[in-house]
Amino acid sequence: MYTIFLLVALVASSFLETVQFQCCIPSQLETYIDELSFVPGARGRNVVQNTSYDAVTKREAFHVFDNTINNGYDVIYDYRANMSYMWSRGVCNVSYAGPFHEFCFAEGKLVRKSFMGVFPEITKLNTYMVAGKRCHASYTVGKSCSPVELEMNCNDSLTLTRFYNMTLGIKNESVFTPPKICFKKESRRIIAHQTPLFFRTAAMFGTPLEFP
Ligand SMILES: *[C@@H]1O[C@H](CO)[C@@H](O)[C@H](O)[C@H]1NC(C)=O
Ligand SMILES: *[C@@H]1O[C@H](CO)[C@@H](O)[C@H](O)[C@H]1NC(C)=O
Ligand SMILES: *[C@@H]1O[C@H](CO)[C@@H](O)[C@H](O)[C@H]1NC(C)=O
Ligand SMILES: *[C@@H]1O[C@H](CO)[C@@H](O)[C@H](O)[C@H]1NC(C)=O
Ligand SMILES: *[C@@H]1O[C@H](CO)[C@@H](O)[C@H](O)[C@H]1NC(C)=O
Ligand SMILES: *[C@@H]1O[C@H](CO)[C@@H](O)[C@H](O)[C@H]1NC(C)=O
Repeated sequence: MYTIFLLVALVASSFLETVQFQCCIPSQLETYIDELSFVPGARGRNVVQNTSYDAVTKREAFHVFDNTINNGYDVIYDYRANMSYMWSRGVCNVSYAGPFHEFCFAEGKLVRKSFMGVFPEITKLNTYMVAGKRCHASYTVGKSCSPVELEMNCNDSLTLTRFYNMTLGIKNESVFTPPKICFKKESRRIIAHQTPLFFRTAAMFGTPLEFP
């Protein structure tokens, strides 16, 4: 669905041989993710999603908001049950989920210590750089490895990702329950497995995934 992430996936393989993690994000969180990507000769592409990430029960849910290219859609990855659901406009694509990976950052070089916010809510931030064969990545994390900003700078693309409105814990468990259309014969489609969006983003920061 998003070609940029496929490109990013290739980059990940160059990190794989030596992957060591700097840190992993908090095990349960809800956050908005705003991703802006550029490829030469095309307009910038902006995708906003909110995500519930639960490494304890191995489940993830995304709501991708409407944008100019795609209509909004929803995704659930239930790794425990090895099932995934992706639905929009009354049709639900069902597949398996594959193995669960925590969202972790590849070990990087600490290049900046900085701060963000308005007194008294000042947050301390660390920025790390990771150099791959074709891409340079940097990521900024706050306390407990909470992700703040990612930047992926490649030969032929630039991706800027920002996390905001993040809360720790899972407040709404029902985001992990697929809607009825995912179980009805008329509206359920069994499809080939796809690597989830969030994982592709994670992959560029070193999550050891196996890509085709
Ligand atoms: C995303 O936000 C909407 C409200 O805008 C909420 O109804 C939904 O449960 C959220 N989805 C996830 C996966 O967090
Ligand atoms: C469901 O799968 C079809 C065929 O692969 C695809 O065209 C469609 O975009 C998918 N729907 C969602 C919500 O991902
Ligand atoms: C998930 O299901 C697929 C398809 O049946 C299977 O190939 C895969 O090994 C399963 N993965 C896990 C982690 O159970
Ligand atoms: C990246 O740039 C280098 C030097 O210009 C070039 O040799 C290489 O083929 C490029 N890689 C890709 C995948 O575009
Ligand atoms: C941030 O989260 C709050 C509470 O969940 C929600 O009302 C608000 O719309 C969110 N802000 C943005 C910019 O999405
Ligand atoms: C909880 O999640 C469900 C499914 O996404 C959503 O319909 C509902 O509005 C959410 N509840 C709250 C309080 O955000």
